[in-house]
Amino acid sequence: MIKVAVCGALGKMGQEVVNAVENAEDMELVAKIDIAAEDMYHTIEEAARVEDIDLLIDFTQPKSIFENAKYCLNNGIKIVIGTTGLTDLQIEELRQLSREKNTGCLIAPNFSTGAVLMMMFARQAAKYFDNAEIIELHHNQKKDAPSGTAVKTAQMMAEVKADFAFNNCDETETIEGARGANSYANIQIHSVRMPGYIASQEVIFGSSGQILKVRHDSMDRKCYMQGVLLAVRHTFKNNDFVYGLDNIM
Ligand SMILES: NC(=O)c1ccc[n+]([C@@H]2O[C@H](COP(=O)([O-])OP(=O)(O)OC[C@H]3O[C@@H](n4cnc5c(N)ncnc54)[C@H](O)[C@@H]3O)[C@@H](O)[C@H]2O)c1
Repeated sequence: MIKVAVCGALGKMGQEVVNAVENAEDMELVAKIDIAAEDMYHTIEEAARVEDIDLLIDFTQPKSIFENAKYCLNNGIKIVIGTTGLTDLQIEELRQLSREKNTGCLIAPNFSTGAVLMMMFARQAAKYFDNAEIIELHHNQKKDAPSGTAVKTAQMMAEVKADFAFNNCDETETIEGARGANSYANIQIHSVRMPGYIASQEVIFGSSGQILKVRHDSMDRKCYMQGVLLAVRHTFKNNDFVYGLDNIM
């Protein structure tokens, strides 16, 4: 049995993860952690003092995930990170710490298998189009922008091509931000925040005379659970560092 703790257990994702772990035959939920809870552990440090934890699943918030992850890796607790908002520098630091401590760490900006396929298809299409932009749409309680999925998609496309703003004219924004955020390989990312959405993303490719759209919509947070359990099983068996679910699919 894999002894799993869930951090952010009261949150929208955390509650789904708690259910998924409880229903997984090869996992045992040993600790629920949430700073806002009255009847749960408040921190991973607190839980680890009492419980025997093999692996922590973290769906908390950008400002706490880095410290949580360092604590786990320094104390031999494997970690699966769903929380988004880690910087490139922090991800690199966690990669090094995971290797140094020989403790598994998997970070995935998106655990939905459909969304991961959308990213893989976008990378495939990137070879054939010189222009591309990303629109990501989420609920209006999401704290970070752009989404981790949008950033990861742009990174994957940038592995294929260095510039996706081919032949764009010199632009002037009459309202700041109108053209979105300039990311990897000049891919503009536009973040929409709206009640009603869970998580959607559209990658638009253009070339002379044609447009290709690759789109994924999450209709329910259950769509992430297959990927979360896959990540837990992988990380329990392997002590490697993985960034992106595509690497274990
Ligand atoms: N990787 C993915 O597939 C994926 C999918 C959806 C959401 N997310 C990310 O997961 C994170 C959580 O999303 P959500 O919608 O569940 O948010 P949420 O606000 O509903 O839940 C976050 C929970 O974490 C708790 N929390 C915050 N800081 C904590 C800390 N230091 N220790 C313990 N608990 C803490 C909060 O009290 C809250 O209950 C966000 O970063 C979001 O972007 C990732």
